[in-house]
Amino acid sequence: MNIIRVSSYEEMSIEAGKRIAEKVRSNPSMTLGLATGSTPQGVYHYLIKDYENNGTSYQNIKSINLDEYIGLQATDPNSYHYFMQKNLFNHIDIASNHTHIPNGAASNLAEECRRYENLINEVGGIDLQILGIGQNGHIGFNEPGTAFSSRTHVVSLAKNTLEANARFFANVAEVPTHALTMGIATILDSKEIFLLASGTEKAEAVAQLFNEGIREDFPASALKQHPNVTILADDDALKYI
Ligand code: GLP
Repeated sequence: MNIIRVSSYEEMSIEAGKRIAEKVRSNPSMTLGLATGSTPQGVYHYLIKDYENNGTSYQNIKSINLDEYIGLQATDPNSYHYFMQKNLFNHIDIASNHTHIPNGAASNLAEECRRYENLINEVGGIDLQILGIGQNGHIGFNEPGTAFSSRTHVVSLAKNTLEANARFFANVAEVPTHALTMGIATILDSKEIFLLASGTEKAEAVAQLFNEGIREDFPASALKQHPNVTILADDDALKYI
């Protein structure tokens, strides 16, 4: 794993954004794996500014998102569909039929998981996957204990994930208890991975990632098996390193 250490959230967003925009310019039909949460918002802001100022085009780019809550319609402001439209897709020239997010409102969730895996294969796999990290080491919504061989599946969210994500909802009871997520094996199939981490609340998870072994009860440790992972993190997230 390569590490890029920066001093702040802003610097992390710029460093990751620059690298992503460069890759999009050199491979304008690549497939980007995208993430939600607070962490990548600054990166998306950078990409929008870069699109406006430098004209980096996403016309032939495809995107595949990691996860989605179960039970929320795409129009729900707390859905990851809505998040992606608001924070990125509405502001760049990506084609609407090139953006893909699991459908958490599907009536047959097992079928939706199969459809999503097939879709990833049909587009030729993910060239660059962007990841955040949960305080318990989750990636996507793969909670501790998820098999490293997992593919897109339904998950029951851990109590501390519900609590951590409650800040986006009126209260913790409103947070959907289940989600669809790419599996760990799906994530590891990506050709390259950027893991973003910012803030002291991620410091313990980042320290665990560096200091401990590869274990299914710490999902992010699966990344150590991947040959091309770059961690972009700020001093706060790296304070125990
Ligand atoms: C959420 C998302 C993850 C994200 C993580 C951290 O639950 N499903 O994809 O990486 O938790 O979120 P944040 O960046 O808001 O800390």
